[in-house]
Amino acid sequence: MYRASRGTQDILPQEQDYWRYVQRTAEELCRRFGYQRIDTPVFESADLFVRGVGDATDIVIKEMYTFEDRGGEQLTLRPEGTAPVCRAYLERGMASLPQPVRLHYFCPIFRYERPQAGRYRQHHQFGIEAIGDAGPAIDAEVIQLGWLLVATLGLKGASLKVNTIGDPSCRPTYLQELRSYYQARLASLCPDCQARYHRNPLRLLDCKQQTCQPHILEAPRSADHLCPDCQRHWTSLQQYLEELDLPFQVEPRLVRGLDYYARTVFEVQPQEEGSQSTLVGGGRYDGLIQALGGRPTPGIGFGAGLERLVLNLRSQQVPVPAVIPRPVVVAHQGKEADPRGAQVATQLRQHGISVLVAPSSRSLRAQMRYASSMNARFVVILGEAELARGVLTVRDMDQAHQQELTLEQATSLLSLAAGPATGQ
Ligand code: HAM
Repeated sequence: MYRASRGTQDILPQEQDYWRYVQRTAEELCRRFGYQRIDTPVFESADLFVRGVGDATDIVIKEMYTFEDRGGEQLTLRPEGTAPVCRAYLERGMASLPQPVRLHYFCPIFRYERPQAGRYRQHHQFGIEAIGDAGPAIDAEVIQLGWLLVATLGLKGASLKVNTIGDPSCRPTYLQELRSYYQARLASLCPDCQARYHRNPLRLLDCKQQTCQPHILEAPRSADHLCPDCQRHWTSLQQYLEELDLPFQVEPRLVRGLDYYARTVFEVQPQEEGSQSTLVGGGRYDGLIQALGGRPTPGIGFGAGLERLVLNLRSQQVPVPAVIPRPVVVAHQGKEADPRGAQVATQLRQHGISVLVAPSSRSLRAQMRYASSMNARFVVILGEAELARGVLTVRDMDQAHQQELTLEQATSLLSLAAGPATGQ
């Protein structure tokens, strides 16, 4: 028997309520904040991500699904959403639109990671990007939207962590400081951190190994090594966040796994913390568009893992609206009645009612059992007796009550009782 590939999942019909709820909540927030939808291809040139995400990142070093196509081109299944959106911004002339350009997306993301709860090789992200505005007010807007996503979904106990990691003018001095601090401790670091020390020292602060924690606690902080511009941005951002009443905490060791970040970084963590659990992660990427060949253009955004949001909604038992309506089942018997069953179903569907035609090979009794198992509220019974009299029997399964109606009467009754719910 075939099985889904490691780290991938099927989203079954009974789970779709949660997915739809998350998607609708996110879409509604984007509508309120004016972030328009963009869809980019599932694969792009591998080089876009090597340049965009950074060749010292885990994503580029060991997680990309890269393949050569039949034309000899190196392509990569999208391992994150920001670089493709920036590529589209440049390629599609969005720099000439009023700035900032506010965009959102829902898309599958592919990373060759070690699968575990909340960490998959294919996951899905909702993300937003605001491109073309350098001021801290837009940082606050993006952070607010990320926080509101989790809060509006009804998830409890989440926390909002914010930090600054400086920019290319002040970060080198900070990294120097960080390296000197770690130099004396190199021997006691975990093997991963020993590699990070050389390759990507900022990530030393992100280690989850117990043995490395004491070193992280005393490590120098990026916020203490900012240039005047970064300092102003950081101070002003915190004022905006306070004015917006966002319950943020400054987390001096918050760093992120992608190299394009500068200045602001932030995450929304769920009640149960852990490296595999971050719900929303993002930050400012002022150098990215230039690295992709454009003019220097600031940008900020976040990505939110849909699987993790759904996992948390389920574990907190947050009630979500049902997407699958209770259907009307058409039960029919006798040769002549068979095509009439499909006709009646067609007429009801034209009025927006969800209709299942019961399997015709079964007895009427078995069809009624089928209706119960499909959680039908109403059954329309179309037997020979009904056909002869030109009526239908409509049975209300909840009330255990039935009546004979004409098709028109049945249609209006069922439109009222079982028609499309508002918001469907
Ligand atoms: P990221 O932190 O790599 O950022 O991913 C964003 C979110 O996607 C994470 O917080 C998490 O919820 C989810 N996620 C990441 N990896 C996995 C996985 N293997 N399994 C399940 N969920 C996962 C980015 O990708 C940036 N592009 C975000 C961004 C947008 N920054 C600026 N704009």
